[in-house]
Amino acid sequence: MAKVGILVGSLRKDSFSKKIAQNVAPLFPEGYETEMIEIGHLPLYNQDYDDENKVPEAYTIFRTTMQAIDAVLFVTPEYNRSVPSVLKNALDVGSRPYGSSVWDGKPAAIISQSPGNLSAFGANHHLRQSLVFLNMPILQQPEAYLGNVAELLDENGHLKNEGTREFLQTFVDAFIELIKKH
Ligand code: FNR
Repeated sequence: MAKVGILVGSLRKDSFSKKIAQNVAPLFPEGYETEMIEIGHLPLYNQDYDDENKVPEAYTIFRTTMQAIDAVLFVTPEYNRSVPSVLKNALDVGSRPYGSSVWDGKPAAIISQSPGNLSAFGANHHLRQSLVFLNMPILQQPEAYLGNVAELLDENGHLKNEGTREFLQTFVDAFIELIKKH
């Protein structure tokens, strides 16, 4: 059984990113288990914690959880044309101490979303930049930019259109092929 961790770049209770993640999780086939990974409680990364061996318990639990994950799906909005700090913080926490990164070599895929037209393109590509440095093989195609996201979801947070579901299934299928290669 392969484990896919899902990290959401928003803490908002009615987050569109969270709703998209909840719709995508069931699209993974048999043999793949998805787990939503909490990141909002992680203290802001401070290198002194690692250098002085005063590691917050939340870091230790997060790092241990991520070590057991085989692949990572990121679902994120864009904040000020970049990655929301909560998600960048989780990347930073998981990347240290130096030489013990939890991300190294793990296949990754990115879905970005926005209530506007631009689909969080900036966040998607800033995130890609970090993942390249973290040595994560990233799904190239299809890219997943969900614009006007409010129109894709009904009042219960479910996808309204079969076309969107089919696209996300194609995206998950391609991610599975990438995971199998690594
Ligand atoms: C935003 N939003 C936003 N949207 C966008 O398309 N590009 C952007 O650069 C920004 N910048 C931005 C900064 C901050 C601080 C906030 C709070 C919001 C709007 C954003 O896309 C919208 O709030 C989404 O609903 C956030 O995603 P969740 O929380 O619904 O997952």
